Amino acid sequence: MTKRLKLPALHIAQQKVWQGRARYNVVCLGRRSGKTALGIMLALGASACSDLATAALQGYPVGWFAPTYKVLDAAWRESKDRLKPVITCKSEQSKRLEIIGGGAVDFWSLEDEDAGRGRKYSRVIIDEAGIAKRLQPAWENAIRPTLTDFGGDAWFLSTPKGRNYFYDCYQRGVNHEPNWASWQMPTACNPFIHPDEIEEARRNLPERTFQQEYLAQFLDDAGGVFRNISACTYDIPNDDWWRKEQKQTDGRAYVIGVDLARVEDFTVITVVDARDRKVVAVDRFNQVEYVMQLERLVAMSQRFKGAPILIESNNTGLPFLEQAKRRGLPVRAFQTTNASKAEIIEKLAIAFEQGTISIPDYPPLINELMCFEQERLPSGMIRYGAPHGQHDDTVMSLAIAFYGATGIAQSAPITSGARIY
Ligand SMILES: Nc1ncnc2c1ncn2[C@@H]1O[C@H](COP(=O)(O)OP(=O)(O)O)[C@@H](O)[C@H]1O
Ligand SMILES: [Mg+2]
Repeated sequence: MTKRLKLPALHIAQQKVWQGRARYNVVCLGRRSGKTALGIMLALGASACSDLATAALQGYPVGWFAPTYKVLDAAWRESKDRLKPVITCKSEQSKRLEIIGGGAVDFWSLEDEDAGRGRKYSRVIIDEAGIAKRLQPAWENAIRPTLTDFGGDAWFLSTPKGRNYFYDCYQRGVNHEPNWASWQMPTACNPFIHPDEIEEARRNLPERTFQQEYLAQFLDDAGGVFRNISACTYDIPNDDWWRKEQKQTDGRAYVIGVDLARVEDFTVITVVDARDRKVVAVDRFNQVEYVMQLERLVAMSQRFKGAPILIESNNTGLPFLEQAKRRGLPVRAFQTTNASKAEIIEKLAIAFEQGTISIPDYPPLINELMCFEQERLPSGMIRYGAPHGQHDDTVMSLAIAFYGATGIAQSAPITSGARIY
């Protein structure tokens, strides 16, 4: 029967996992290493995983779980596609595939609290288990009991996400608890991913992001983005330092980055010396009226005459930008999207790691840098920002100014995905 199906052979790392399997398997691999592909072969009981398998093509029921509908959808589509010649019944509504021989695969999102409850499975796959918000209760109360009737096996497949419940499961295999097995392999274990891709990620991502996402390491605090902060810090006499001490020095180019306050946060104006990559002034205040914001920006612009001003623009920023233009300020909009934000934050994080930036020991800035975190979205993209309820305006204003400053220092047009108008 399998002859009619389009099924890839397992790559070596995937084979290793299959050969070392136990009842409960925790497969911690880098991004794009082939976790979902392996999961699909396991669910089907296809390719090398057909030996002695109790999966869909052998006539058994299999449960597939993912943290969100979005993550689930990719596996659902691929399985549907691969199994096409043998599907006897397909329900888009309940996301169930039934196939010749009586086997079936149910696809569940863990957003649904009752996912899998009351079912019987001979095998369950939990894809991207590391980012499932309530993995422990889902596993203990709903998923694990589905395996009882068949004595089925379980596969936790994921990139790590700090030391959460997926890490606890991983530890069980590492500690040789009976019936548990664990693996940890980097993205490079997938021969279908070109090594240049990985090298490029190593160069362009903050070290911790690369370690977690590509080397599949469980980091102490998966959140932290900026490292080596204190080594890049210079002392300041007091919080008012920037008002008196720093002015324009002849022949120097500066860039001013602005993050505008919305409701309960701060407007922050950061000035970076483009040659030394040094932050020479930071003005942070919480008046939200445009007139006040504009006056303070005008004052800063007068101290650093001619310095281009990059302003974070979104719907609320545009009217401010227009007013600033009318006042004759050399403003340009920095378009913030998830992607452009990721780009400038990654650039800034790398500057800290390499010690190519210098910042004042200004408590709000240091604090925000230390708390700044990253979160992997179901789409695979990384979202950067402050923890819930905290601010990131000072970091954003710095990231925008620094981004502009590196563009100027290279005296080349800013050409990357982060757009400046
Ligand atoms: N055994 C395999 N044979 C051929 N291509 C594979 C194999 N395993 C993975 N791939 C390819 O590698 C890429 C990443 O695989 P995927 O399973 O989506 O990774 P992950 O789920 O780990 O992010 C995909 O393009 C997939 O088709
Ligand atoms: Mg995947």
